[in-house]
Amino acid sequence: EKNSTDKDKCLLAICELLEENVPYYNWVGFYFKNGDKNELKLGPYVGEPTDHVIIPFGKGICGQVAVSNKNFVVPDVQAQDNYIACSISVKAEIVIPIFVNGENVGQIDIDSGTPDPFSKEDEDFLEFICAEVAKIL
Ligand code: SME
Repeated sequence: EKNSTDKDKCLLAICELLEENVPYYNWVGFYFKNGDKNELKLGPYVGEPTDHVIIPFGKGICGQVAVSNKNFVVPDVQAQDNYIACSISVKAEIVIPIFVNGENVGQIDIDSGTPDPFSKEDEDFLEFICAEVAKIL
């Protein structure tokens, strides 16, 4: 286990690598369960600052993944009624949960300005990233 500063540096570096190398990954960030509260708290991210630093479980795409424990791929955010808009430029979103000892402790959240950009490959790749991230938490 790393100290929290090193952890955040690692997580930020992962966000930067993903955002810089995948053209349709335009906002990349981590949310984590906030202590023992039923809410998510924003962790390291790259992209436009968001007002949504705290997201209650069940709310938005992120909040739904906190309770479903499942990947959520959204090809068109406008078609979702339980969605929290951060920026009008966002067209699609993918959220993949992070598990430590079987517990859903957080997630990676990626927004795209490209409509319907995410494939099964993105899911597989991001699941791998999340499994690697779990090892340093
Ligand atoms: N769109 C997310 C909120 C987080 S922002 O994308 C950074 C949601 O609906 O949960």
